Amino acid sequence: MGRKLLLEHEHVEGIRYYETYRRNGGYAAVEKAFKMGPADIVEEVKKSGLRGRGGAGFPTGMKWSFLAKPEGVPRYLVCNADESEPGTFKDRYLMEFLPHLLIEGLIISSFALGSNRTYIYIRGEYAWIVDILEQAIAEANQAGFLGKNILGSGFDCQIYVQRGAGAYICGEETALLESLEGKRGNPRIKPPFPAIKGLYDCPTVVNNVETLAAVVPIINIGGEEYAKIGVGKSTGTKLISACGNINKPGIYEIDMTISVEEFIYGEEYCGGIPKGKRLKACIPGGSSVPILPANLLLKTAKGEQRMMTYESLADGGFPTGSMMGSGGFIVLDEDQCVVRHTYSLARFYRHESCGQCSPCREGTGWMEKILHKIEHGKGDMRDIDLLWDIQSKIEGNTICPLGDAAAWPVAAAIRHFRDEFEWHVLNPEESQKRNFGLAHYADPISVAVG
Ligand SMILES: Cc1cc2nc3c(=O)[nH]c(=O)nc-3n(C[C@H](O)[C@H](O)[C@H](O)COP(=O)(O)O)c2cc1C
Ligand code: SF4
Repeated sequence: MGRKLLLEHEHVEGIRYYETYRRNGGYAAVEKAFKMGPADIVEEVKKSGLRGRGGAGFPTGMKWSFLAKPEGVPRYLVCNADESEPGTFKDRYLMEFLPHLLIEGLIISSFALGSNRTYIYIRGEYAWIVDILEQAIAEANQAGFLGKNILGSGFDCQIYVQRGAGAYICGEETALLESLEGKRGNPRIKPPFPAIKGLYDCPTVVNNVETLAAVVPIINIGGEEYAKIGVGKSTGTKLISACGNINKPGIYEIDMTISVEEFIYGEEYCGGIPKGKRLKACIPGGSSVPILPANLLLKTAKGEQRMMTYESLADGGFPTGSMMGSGGFIVLDEDQCVVRHTYSLARFYRHESCGQCSPCREGTGWMEKILHKIEHGKGDMRDIDLLWDIQSKIEGNTICPLGDAAAWPVAAAIRHFRDEFEWHVLNPEESQKRNFGLAHYADPISVAVG
């Protein structure tokens, strides 16, 4: 059983409310942090090795130390709760069931960064969670952990919840800031980075929900202790939202020492694939990261067991590796059609492109059209090459990473499952009947896990 730092009290009845949270050790980290002071908190987060849980995995302590501190200019902390990446639903769980953990992390982080006005930008569809968060904020205010002169420190802080209007692009940090300012959520050109010029042109840190919640156990147990959990630069615990063809979809807190195989087949985690079907592929980090066929998912190209760590999931780079991303783990069994699946993702990215850059605006539309053609048995072999060509011209040529996120799934699908695309071209009638043809699969390496 892995160590639980974030979800330790998830099953305690009433943990959503202040009194119960407090009785179970809640807000002790705030009391400790206010005695430590801002510089020591930043130091502790640096020591922990915590990496941003929103997708890119950038070291949080380092990000915090980049924050500019010009005299007389406000600084802001913004919590990114947009969570619109298909397959990712871990932040929702944290906010819905453990809202005080996030509020506690936000108070400590606001104090460390000097943010007197802190925002939670939450996706519009999480409407009921807004109420949960607002209640937790009201309780924290009443208990004296928010408001003026918190714990006699002279530090004032208030937290505001702002709902988005349902655009995936508003999860990109600069689009989020534009939206928070009341404008259309178009990503900004960087530099300047938010740490220099963010919300209302003031220095700003944007962090993911899980990242900010993780600050609580870091302060409680200390950065060094936190860094001992996990492997190498994958320290601490990570929430994984697991879905697709598995027996036990849900949220799992893993310490990053288990293998991918153990995660999929272990009874403690996903519990294997329904009806004993075989594993075909997996998207390990949310819809934007490259899909991996089963053989490369369970073992790296070097033949080593693939682990649930940032490094191991990425091992081999994009030809043969993928990414931890936001921890949205989507499993496909032998009956799933990769072409259909890729088409469905392409539709999503075309719909969500903000349209500022032509490679993304036009490219996502072209990819969707071509994939629709192939999937419906109306494509020819040249379409597969054209698709490859288009995706290669999007990657790296856009203002924000949504372009890459749209290109990578297409590139990986063609790279690993080209024969499946060809099958659709060669079997137009079967393809139209939605008979998915080729099956790629792999049996687990050791089966004995769980
Ligand atoms: C299109 C797009 C959508 C994103 N959506 C989210 C999101 O919903 N939540 C999130 O935390 N980060 C999201 N990110 C990443 C953010 O831009 C940013 O890197 C992150 O919030 C930083 O927090 P972290 O350092 O704690 O990971 C998205 C990025 C892109 C390009
Ligand atoms: S890459 Fe796409 S989503 Fe990002 S700024 Fe350009 S057009 Fe908009």
